[in-house]
Amino acid sequence: MAEIQNTGKVVGVNGNMVTIEFAGKVLMNEVGYVKLQTPQGTKHLKAEVIRVRGNKADLQVFEMTRGIGIGDTVELTGNLLAVTLGPGLLGQVFDGLQNPLPELAEACGFFLERGVYLDPLPEKEWEFSPVAKVGDTVARGDALGVVSEGIFTHRIMVPFDMYDTYKVKSLAPPGEYPVTAKVAEIEDVKGNVYPLTMKFQWPVKRAIDAYAERLKPVDPMVTKVRLIDTFIPVAKGGTYCIPGPFGAGKTVLQQITSRNAEVDIVIIAACGERAGEVVETLRDFPELADPRTGNSLMERTIIICNTSSMPVAAREASVYTALTLAEYYRQMGLHVLLLADSTSRWAQAMREMSGRLEEIPGEEAFPAYLESVIASFYERAGLVRLKDGSTGSVTIGGTVSPAGGNFEEPVTQATLKVVGAFHGLSRERSDARKYPAIDPLESWSKYKGSVDPGKTDYAWDILFRGNDVAQMMKVVGEEGTSIEDYIVYLKSDFLDAVYLQQNSFDPVDNAVPVDRQEHIFDVIFRILAATLDFQIKDEARQYFNRMRQLFLDYNGTGWNSDEFAEKESEILMLLSSKQKGSDENAAMLLETLS
Ligand SMILES: Nc1ncnc2c1ncn2[C@@H]1O[C@H](COP(=O)(O)OP(=O)(O)O)[C@@H](O)[C@H]1O
Ligand SMILES: [Mg+2]
Repeated sequence: MAEIQNTGKVVGVNGNMVTIEFAGKVLMNEVGYVKLQTPQGTKHLKAEVIRVRGNKADLQVFEMTRGIGIGDTVELTGNLLAVTLGPGLLGQVFDGLQNPLPELAEACGFFLERGVYLDPLPEKEWEFSPVAKVGDTVARGDALGVVSEGIFTHRIMVPFDMYDTYKVKSLAPPGEYPVTAKVAEIEDVKGNVYPLTMKFQWPVKRAIDAYAERLKPVDPMVTKVRLIDTFIPVAKGGTYCIPGPFGAGKTVLQQITSRNAEVDIVIIAACGERAGEVVETLRDFPELADPRTGNSLMERTIIICNTSSMPVAAREASVYTALTLAEYYRQMGLHVLLLADSTSRWAQAMREMSGRLEEIPGEEAFPAYLESVIASFYERAGLVRLKDGSTGSVTIGGTVSPAGGNFEEPVTQATLKVVGAFHGLSRERSDARKYPAIDPLESWSKYKGSVDPGKTDYAWDILFRGNDVAQMMKVVGEEGTSIEDYIVYLKSDFLDAVYLQQNSFDPVDNAVPVDRQEHIFDVIFRILAATLDFQIKDEARQYFNRMRQLFLDYNGTGWNSDEFAEKESEILMLLSSKQKGSDENAAMLLETLS
């Protein structure tokens, strides 16, 4: 435990907040420990200062506060809430305070006793290879050596809080070392020498910025979900949010994404809706195979978990802990995806603490600073160029679970203002088991995908018009609808069934590489842009039923296999059997097709 800088006495306890009186100086966000006498001995409960007023400070306690009384001592450390960085983080399950919970992952349901804090990095030896040389000039973030962590090269860097320039004075020879062993000594201009190990600390609420510059996120972060990659893409280093009512498929969609997304590392901050949900994640995850390596997906995953049965403050901590770990791996030139599920639970924690602080409430009793806190969270995503010229990224995807699925609430609205893409799930679609239940008409993205936007806009327009026809048909019936309108409706329904919906249980369909998406989207585009020769609606309906069936079979064939080519020619034959011509508005786009 950290050194004690100061102490205070508890003068008030209100849920997870304690108020202390102190002499001297107390810093905002510094960590303190409430000393609690129990029959098993003295426990030190971790807490964070969230307000200082004169000689009083309020602390949020990351543990159950049962038993804390007036007059109890609080020891203040002078340090901000921080995580430990170093090799060995991958594959672990942590709680919000970075306590490793392997037992929790196995036993599902075991939670740490309060007041117990464990070392986050495993006690093992790493094969260290120096990359710097004695005499080199180095600065924060520069690599001194490397170790292999699973399939990645983990850079052993100059700690990010060492802001001077240094000369490398000594460097350990290649060999096996634990994270606590001295692997380098660096010297500042004044001649002070600093011994370095493979691990160091960084405060979770401060963004890691030991890079050369931030770049604009442009390249897509491929999820292999067609609807997302083609229509509402996410950029590497970008941000997106997935709001949706309870049970609409937010968590499943994040799990699918964590398995298939084209990134190096996935970090999951699971602030569960229910205790059971987090347990499910912990149980399922280690069993998932990494499509890239065939090994366990956990090898390139970190899970930070909290359930609603843990104190609210721990949820906030887990979101920031996850983010800081993501930024750490970005410093190694890796692409990291951070998935936060659900940010609403975190916002509720803020609301609860704000209520205890008796702050002036904003909309729906959320604190007035909700928006700025959410904005600064998503702002920590980004694509960066590191000092050695390589690039790394942190992409953030957060779910939001608004009560009743109403997106007009403060957390969804605050998130919408800052993210680059919005993947709204709808109850109507999940009830109809149209998965992923992203509502194509509500969702949007500011990023560019790999398919020509001219073509996606054209398809999007058919979806909207098809939806209008469907609404109208509810009123006037099929008889009252013209055959032209009816065909628009059939086309939009076809696009939805064979492209927007995707079967997450099918071994082929569950993950569609982007070159396959581009290819089959061109086939669909020909169908959407075709003018078709039908006399009666029944004929049109039967034709589209047939087309849909062929296309679903096509979706199940191996990419570029013989069956794939066969199905495709069947589809194109069926198309030409009824095609009169093409929509003139699509003429230019059709020319670009292969
Ligand atoms: N893509 C999908 N494919 C098949 N079933 C799904 C899919 N997404 C969700 N479901 C079903 O819906 C249920 C609820 O999904 P979940 O992700 O837990 O919802 P949420 O996190 O939005 O509350 C799942 O247990 C599963 O049965
Ligand atoms: Mg969920």
